[in-house]
Amino acid sequence: MNEKMNRMEFLKRLGLKGASLFAVYCAASGLSSCVNESMDPTTTTGGTGNELILDLNSAAYSKLNTVGNYVVVSGVVIARVSATAFAAVTQVCSHEGQRKVVFNAGEFYCPAHGARFDTAGKGLNSTGSRGLKTYVTTLDGTTLKVTV
Ligand code: FES
Repeated sequence: MNEKMNRMEFLKRLGLKGASLFAVYCAASGLSSCVNESMDPTTTTGGTGNELILDLNSAAYSKLNTVGNYVVVSGVVIARVSATAFAAVTQVCSHEGQRKVVFNAGEFYCPAHGARFDTAGKGLNSTGSRGLKTYVTTLDGTTLKVTV
């Protein structure tokens, strides 16, 4: 009985701490770069994969409250595309693999050679014809979840 309770308590504590262990996320996702760790959001491992959890009240992500703005988190470009919607795509361009994708004028764009993509990751010109990998975003109050 005691052992069972101790285990539950241990798991509870592990869960709380695990949410801020970005190093675990990096190892699990195989991302080649984990720069700016202080800017990285809380991450958790959910049933469908890893999740980026962004607090839109925090200084790092509050710009996402304004349509047209974007942030780059752990290699994911996350944009506020309308009053009610977000879009998230990989920062790695499908043209020649450069990690340069940004959000500009309502679409994703790679300045390396001009590839353009819509908010669903679909290519808008020949350079961007292979599209971009997209991620599901879910807003719950002021918490934005990106499933990666
Ligand atoms: S690598 Fe992005 S347009 Fe060429």
